[in-house]
Formats: sequence, structure tokens, C-alpha cells
Amino acid sequence: MTPRPRHLLDFEGWTLERLTALLDNADTMNQVLERPVKKVPALQGLTVCTAFFENSTRTRISFELAARRMSADVVSFAAGNSSVSKGESLRDTIEVLTAYKVDAYIVRHAAAGAAHLVARYSGKPVINAGDGRRAHPTQALLDAYTVRQEFGTLEGKTIAIIGDIRHSRVARSNAELLPKLGAKVVLCGPATLLPADLAALPGVTLTTNPREAVRGAHAVMALRLQSERMSGGYLGSLQEYADTYQVNERLLAEAEAGAIVLHPGPMNRDLEISADTADSERSRVLKQVENGQAVRMSVLYHLLVGRE
Ligand code: CP
Repeated sequence: MTPRPRHLLDFEGWTLERLTALLDNADTMNQVLERPVKKVPALQGLTVCTAFFENSTRTRISFELAARRMSADVVSFAAGNSSVSKGESLRDTIEVLTAYKVDAYIVRHAAAGAAHLVARYSGKPVINAGDGRRAHPTQALLDAYTVRQEFGTLEGKTIAIIGDIRHSRVARSNAELLPKLGAKVVLCGPATLLPADLAALPGVTLTTNPREAVRGAHAVMALRLQSERMSGGYLGSLQEYADTYQVNERLLAEAEAGAIVLHPGPMNRDLEISADTADSERSRVLKQVENGQAVRMSVLYHLLVGRE
């Protein structure tokens, strides 16, 4: 097998063989999570730090549970109640945590490239839990895993991703990962939220027409409108956006029979996704959340077990 990458910052250096092994291992982790005692000793003696400089519910909690299920000690750093508020730099913060003998970091930060900096400052394995608009690799892995769980393979499947592509690290990571696994990706949104350069990625096409995007799609992912990253001028109005781009039953009538619906969360119900679609039989939103824990256990296992 190809050498094991030291970090998961994005998918650079992650071969198909490694990615497939990681997804296969998530099946085993899901079996662990079905047991009465949901714990294995794989990370005993290691200390994992979740260093979150930006808010999170799913990613932080699932990583902390994943590390604890594997018997690691977990230290949870949240910038909001730390000395970052007194002006402490990212470098000084990470050097302090590393002095406490942290063995690996899970990092979320509003700045693209922050996880790379943590890898450099700490010298420890780092998992990127979302850096600005750039990458959110474990979200893409759990999305891929959820589609694979549904259809048995990603080979030949089409995934339509609809919404605020411009500000979405989830869209970028999925556009990088899913074609590596044999799927096609269609990115769709208003022209102002659809950067043309993404069409250069292999296996990725762009359209501003949501009907065209979902035609032939096996999975349709709605993305959150990221108002906190928008400085205005991208949309006429939220109602106009919802009228055209909302993922709802009317739009899904054009998708493949049996198409599933995904959303990375948090959702704006009745804006980018209708509430009834979010709660429908097609929806795999809570399955994505559930799979997040097993996939993140698998990532921790791949990066940390058996490494000196
Ligand atoms: N999908 C996702 O990253 O959710 P959180 O912001 O809650 O972690």
C-alpha cells in the first residue's frame, strides 16, 4: 500500500487505495458503535486536542466522541473562552498546547491554510476540521461514505451539490474527493456564488440551472447559504434564491428515482432546503451525522495508530 499520509489537511497525497481503506475501516468503526460497550483501546495513551477557532456542533462533538471511543485523552480548546481574546497568536496558542504533550490536533479556523500552520508549529499530525472556504475533508469523507453505504459504490454515481458554492469548503472538498472515488459532481448555484475555476477539476461540471443539475443525480446535496461569509451583492433576495435553488420535492422529481438528499448542516430550513424534504424518507441528513463519528474514528486510526 502507498505510504500513510501524516496529516489530513486536504486530499493531496491521499491515493484511491488509502481513501478506500479509510472508508472500509469506517464500516468496522460503525460496528464498534453498535456494541453495548462502544470503546476500543486503539488510542490509549495518546492526547488529542480539538482546537476550534470557529464554532461547530457536529464536527467538534463527533471528533471528541470518536477520540474518546478509541480511548484517547481529549483536550478541547475553544478560542472564544481562551487567551486568543487577549491577542494571543495562533502560533503561541499551539506552542502552549504542544508543551502540554498533545499528540495530534483537530483544527477549525476561519483562515484558509490555518491547519497547515498548526502542522508546522506543532510538528504533530493534524486533521483539518474546516479552514475558511478552502477545505473540510472529513465532511467530504462522511458524505462519500453515506452515498457509498446507500448504493454500494460511488463508481458511476452523480452527486449534485446546490447552493452557495463560492463560500463552501464542503463543496470544494467534495469536488476534490468524489471524482477520485469514481463519481461525477455537478456544482450548481447562482452565477455570483459559482466560481468558474472549479470547472477545471476532473469529473466536475458547473451549471446555474438546478433542474439540469439534478437530472440523473443519485444524490442531491443542499448547501447552507453562508451569510456570515458574504459581504453583500451576491443575491437579489433570499426569497428569489429559495424560489429557484431550494432543494424540495418539486426539484427532486427531476432526479433519479431513489435519489437521496444530503445536507452537511447546519440547515436553514425552508431556505436552501424545504423542511418537508429535510425530514423526508429520501433525507440522509441524520445518517450523515451518525456516519461522521465512524468516519472520524477511521481517520484518527489511520493517522495515529502504530505511528512513532
Ligand atoms: N457540517 C459541519 O461542519 O457542521 P458543524 O459546523 O456543526 O461542525
